[in-house]
Amino acid sequence: MTDRIIQQQIEYYRARANEYDEWFYRKGRYDRGTQINQRWFNEIATLKNTLHQIGMVDDILELASGTGIWTQELLRIGKKITAIDASEEVIAINRSKLNSLSVEYHLIDLFTWQPDTTYDLVFFAFWLSHVPPNLLDSFLTKVYQSVRVGGQVFIIDSCFEPTSTANNHILEDDANIYKTRKLNDGQEFQIVKIFYQPDELKDKLQKAGFQVEVKLTDNYFIYAQGKKLKQFVICNS
Ligand SMILES: C[S@@+](CC[C@H](N)C(=O)[O-])C[C@H]1O[C@@H](n2cnc3c(N)ncnc32)[C@H](O)[C@@H]1O
Repeated sequence: MTDRIIQQQIEYYRARANEYDEWFYRKGRYDRGTQINQRWFNEIATLKNTLHQIGMVDDILELASGTGIWTQELLRIGKKITAIDASEEVIAINRSKLNSLSVEYHLIDLFTWQPDTTYDLVFFAFWLSHVPPNLLDSFLTKVYQSVRVGGQVFIIDSCFEPTSTANNHILEDDANIYKTRKLNDGQEFQIVKIFYQPDELKDKLQKAGFQVEVKLTDNYFIYAQGKKLKQFVICNS
C-alpha cells in the first residue's frame, strides 16, 4: 500500500506540474474570491517574513522543492540551494523560472534519499503532510542528519481549512489520511494528506532531536522552526 501511494503521489505532481501554481496564487479552481484570497496572501506574507528573519546562510537544502515558489524565497537568504524533488517536470519549471546558478537540482525520491552532507538550513513546504505515518520517523531522522550542528530546519504545511483546496475537492473527513485529488482535466489520484496539530508536530520533531517551536497562522498554515544543538544519537539499550 505504502509503495503504491508513494508512486501515485509522484505521478500526481508530475501530471499537475503545469497547473500547480494555480493553487498557490489562488487561480482557477482555487480562486475563492477577493476577501478569502487576501486572507491566504496575508498569511503567506507572515510565513515569508518569518523565513527571511533567519538571515543569510551559506548552504540550504530544500526538500520537495516543487515549481520554485519557496526556492525563490530561499535564494534571498542562502548562497547555495540544493533542491530535491521526484518530478522532472516540476524541476524543469523551477529551473526555468529561477534561472539561477546558485540552485543545484537533484531528481530523487525522498523515500530512498540518503543524506551525505549537512546544511545550515533544511527547508520543506507542503511536503511533511504527504509522508505516510509509518515512514515519518525515519524521514525526520534523515532530516536531522542533514542539518549541521547549530543549523536549523524550517517546515511549512497546511491546516485543515476547506477553502485552501480546489472548489471541486470534496471536504473529506480529516481523520482519513488518504485523499482524492483532481487535475483540471478531471483525472483523479490518491495521495496521503495529514493535517498536523502543533503539539503533535512539536513532539515528532523533538523526538527526532530538534529544539523546536511550532506556530499556526490564523487559518491556513502550520509552521515549525527547529534547531539542532548537538549530535543526537538514539540509544536502544
Ligand atoms: C505539495 S508539493 C510542494 C512543492 C513545494 N515545496 C511548494 O511548496 O511549492 C509536493 C512536492 O513533492 C514532490 N514529491 C512528491 N513525491 C515525492 C517523493 N517521493 N520524493 C521527492 N519529492 C516528491 C512533488 O513533485 C511536489 O513538487
